[in-house]
Amino acid sequence: MAAADTSPNAGAPEGTVRPLHVAIVMDGNGRWAKQRGLPRPLGHRAGVEALRRTVSAAPGLGIGWLTVFGFSTENWSRPAAEVAELMALPKRYFESDLGRLEREGVRVRVIGRREGLSKELVRLVENAQARTAHNSRFNLNIAFNYGAQGDITDAARRFAEDVAAGRRRPEDLDEALFGSFLATADAPPPDLIVRPSGEQRLSNFLLWEAAYAELVFQDVLWPDYGEEHLRAALAEFAGRDRRYGAIVADDVLAAG
Ligand code: FPP
Repeated sequence: MAAADTSPNAGAPEGTVRPLHVAIVMDGNGRWAKQRGLPRPLGHRAGVEALRRTVSAAPGLGIGWLTVFGFSTENWSRPAAEVAELMALPKRYFESDLGRLEREGVRVRVIGRREGLSKELVRLVENAQARTAHNSRFNLNIAFNYGAQGDITDAARRFAEDVAAGRRRPEDLDEALFGSFLATADAPPPDLIVRPSGEQRLSNFLLWEAAYAELVFQDVLWPDYGEEHLRAALAEFAGRDRRYGAIVADDVLAAG
């Protein structure tokens, strides 16, 4: 894995802009398996391979933060056997990749509710975070048992508890303070949110954080995803005009 220069334009050809924080809805595992006449679990396992390829490619493309959606709070409604398979994916990934991630300077964080996860899975997650906590070359956030509405609700509850306990006043609250209560508090907001598989929605992923993210939808199923698709998403991002609600300098002059 190449050293990560996490500045927004690192590694970008002159005149283009690379995102610092990319978030990905890893979608299409089931369809990938179905197309091949395989059981869905094999699609999810192929999805872990795609995650491995994408994490390897990202730092060399100038990305400093990668947040991936591994299991949503809505995924509990899937058949028990599939939920069990999805619950086994972090173990599969950490068993094969944690040592390499640790050595290559990747800091791993798992965001999402711990309630509902087995004790063993919580222990694996805590271990992965502790072993990589000192790293800073690249940040990998895995959203697991995560839902943005739930995260926003949890944040609101924690703030309300602080007010009730006299630690804060209602008038202290602004966007920055509220953001500090979210699971993503230590990450910059995503610059680019990618969803492969042809679906075009956020599905309760990073709703607060996505305020000014560019969205790119790609017609590839997640298990087939890799460096070339990430490059294509970055190329589309580079062509976007990010104004954050403002207007460009020429138009300021024209506005008189
Ligand atoms: C959505 O595809 C994908 C998931 C619910 C699971 C995503 C997880 C991985 C790719 C591996 C994650 C690895 C770790 C370490 C957590 P789908 O099953 O909804 O696909 P479909 O829409 O084609 O049915």
